[in-house]
Amino acid sequence: MISYYRKLVGEYSRVLAFQNGITAAVRPGDTVCEIGTGLGTYAFMASRAGAAKVYAIEESPVIELAHKLYDANQNDLGEIEFIKQYSSLVHLPEKVDVVIYEDFDCQGLNTIQESVLKDARLRFLKPGGTFVPYGMELYWAPLQAEDIWRQEVSCLGENDEKVLGLDYALTRKLVSNERIKTSFEAKAVLSPPLILDSINFAEKQKLEFSRELKIMITKSGVLHGFGSWADFIFPGGNSFSLSYEKPVRVYSRAFFPMPEPVSVETGDCIQMKVSVMKKPLPNRHTWSWWGVIEDRHGRGKSKWQCSTLHLSQFQKQDIEFSRYIDTDYCPVLNEEGHLRRFILEQMNGNMTIEQIANELLVRFPENFPSVDKALTKVVRLVKKCSVNE
Ligand SMILES: C[S@@+](CC[C@H](N)C(=O)[O-])C[C@H]1O[C@@H](n2cnc3c(N)ncnc32)[C@H](O)[C@@H]1O
Repeated sequence: MISYYRKLVGEYSRVLAFQNGITAAVRPGDTVCEIGTGLGTYAFMASRAGAAKVYAIEESPVIELAHKLYDANQNDLGEIEFIKQYSSLVHLPEKVDVVIYEDFDCQGLNTIQESVLKDARLRFLKPGGTFVPYGMELYWAPLQAEDIWRQEVSCLGENDEKVLGLDYALTRKLVSNERIKTSFEAKAVLSPPLILDSINFAEKQKLEFSRELKIMITKSGVLHGFGSWADFIFPGGNSFSLSYEKPVRVYSRAFFPMPEPVSVETGDCIQMKVSVMKKPLPNRHTWSWWGVIEDRHGRGKSKWQCSTLHLSQFQKQDIEFSRYIDTDYCPVLNEEGHLRRFILEQMNGNMTIEQIANELLVRFPENFPSVDKALTKVVRLVKKCSVNE
């Protein structure tokens, strides 16, 4: 765990981009909030830049270490309040001029990060306040990436999708619908990258778009899929890029495979659509990438359609997100919720505990084998939620 945070701090180009961005954004006397302070580095930078007060929020126990580092470096620093909590559960006593956040996906935002930023904009940031980084650009490029494709898509190919005589061909059809987190280098790229989306976090905290792209191949090779990554843009104009130009140490990049490799030549044209939306699962992005490839004479070479939608039915609906307040999500009561609502509605000052327990037994007979169990449930809620006269 410590090695992860040390690696973060050790990635000099990223830390420097944050320092420059923080110095450009924070004016003397500002209030600042950092979400996910880790070892406290960016909170310290904000304090050094002249912030009158910094709220450093971190849900993990690493915050204890941040506090100790603060003590060790205090000569240099102003007031920092450390808050061990998930940001959407934190109530700050004031709105702040600057919100610093860094817990990004290789393509900038996943649905959890969207919620965190939206919540921060609505509850933490003063109108006209600044995010650090203040936004991102999302890129897309065609790739020759045989190693990744073999490893991730056709790993059973040599045996005709068979393992010990069992046939796995069905899974082969699905696997090219997956977004893969990996890394690739400049030599893999078959034409200059295009921008898919550009987001200013103070205005929009959502990755949701549908883009039509026309990509001209500028280097002959074999197309195995598409690479995508984010550049983060900072106040003051500098950026930190996850592009193939630099090795990535902490983050990865995204790879969207083709179902089959396609030989391409300089002058071939890929006409395609790329879309991302928060459907059908409210807590997961669905990525779709489909299109046609034509040669320089307009003759069709290949056609394909891929979408993570085909995998959504197999994905664990990790309800981890219920910890997070996703302001776009429309929650529905579960069984326990219905049960509690029923009890709370009976607590109207006219019914005794015993009467409520009897009603509960009639309404939810399968949940309560005896009136005693129903009574226990009612009494617990009465203790918590009734006026104590
Ligand atoms: C990529 S690390 C960045 C750490 C820090 N910037 C540093 O350099 O040490 C992201 C951190 O944010 C924390 N985190 C992410 N989302 C959070 C949230 N909404 N509220 C509180 N902590 C969060 C994680 O626990 C993790 O420690």
